[in-house]
Amino acid sequence: MRIKIAPSLLSADFGRLEEEIREVEKGGADLLHWDVMDGHFVPNLTVGPSVIRCLRERTDLPFNVHLMIETPEKYLRRFVEAGGDIITVHVEACGNLRGALSSLRRMGVKVGLALNPETPLGAVEGVMGELDLLLVMTVHPGFGNQRFLRSTLPKLRRAGRRVREEGLPLDLGVDGGISVETVPEVVRAGANLLVAGTAIYGQRDRVLAIRRLREAALEGLSGKG
Ligand code: DX5
Ligand code: ZN
Repeated sequence: MRIKIAPSLLSADFGRLEEEIREVEKGGADLLHWDVMDGHFVPNLTVGPSVIRCLRERTDLPFNVHLMIETPEKYLRRFVEAGGDIITVHVEACGNLRGALSSLRRMGVKVGLALNPETPLGAVEGVMGELDLLLVMTVHPGFGNQRFLRSTLPKLRRAGRRVREEGLPLDLGVDGGISVETVPEVVRAGANLLVAGTAIYGQRDRVLAIRRLREAALEGLSGKG
């Protein structure tokens, strides 16, 4: 599976979102990661559909909307209408998981499912065949610039093994603490979609930052990293 880099706008300058997006476009980002937080599912607040809609016209990059909100079922349509291409819900937040996944499918968008560091893979194994993205949280969601949790690696490896063995056509993503230091290990575990906030927007040269992440991924895969 191809390595995909998804800059997380959580670490961007929200006053200059359009320019911030332009820079990662130049760097060859594959998609944009929007972190939506409601102050309940996670102890922080960010943007909602109206901000996402405003930026939709300004770029052709696909939008991955990561919903860190309670009862996401209620808001799916709004995020689809705002321009989300891949909508990711949290397994811990869905009252009716299968219902949420199938309504996303019916709305014609790609279906993502995230799981928190403590949530076992068993919570999503039954629906892995229905996903376009499985997003393994490698920090506790809520804030950028946290330390990567190595305790999530066995779960990631297990997910990677299943994706490989069954040839599942989904992206296996990691989110939180992803940097040139942690990339080699996560790609070896099977991740191919790398969400990175601080490692890109915390750097002055975003083009270089993306290139370094990609190189670290390729080195990891070739056994050098
Ligand atoms: C965590 C968010 C992440 C976060 C990653 O709550 O879901 O997308 O922005 O930021 P870094 O890469 O700084 O850990
Ligand atoms: Zn995220």
